[in-house]
Amino acid sequence: MISPEITAKLLYSQRNEITEHFIYKKPARSMKDRHNREILLHISKDELRHYDFRKQVTGKDIKPNMLKVWFYYLVSRIFGLTFGIKLMERG
Ligand SMILES: [Fe+2]
Repeated sequence: MISPEITAKLLYSQRNEITEHFIYKKPARSMKDRHNREILLHISKDELRHYDFRKQVTGKDIKPNMLKVWFYYLVSRIFGLTFGIKLMERG
C-alpha cells in the first residue's frame, strides 16, 4: 500500500511526464528537419513511457497541463527550439 503522500508525488510527477510528452511532440509535427523531428519524437515517446510507468502504480489517468505545452511551444517558436527546451529543463 502506497501512502497518500507518495501517491500525491507520483501523480504530480505523472502529470509532468505527460505534459513533457506533448511539449516534445507538438513542435516535432511541424519540424522540417527529419533528424531533429525523430529526436523529438523519440524523447516524446520516452516521456510517455515514464508516464505509463507511473500510471501502472497510481492506476489513474492524468491530463497534461496544456497551458504549459502551449507556453513552451510559443517560446520555442519565438526564441528557437533549443532555448525553449533549455528553459523547460531548467524549470
Ligand atoms: Fe521523463
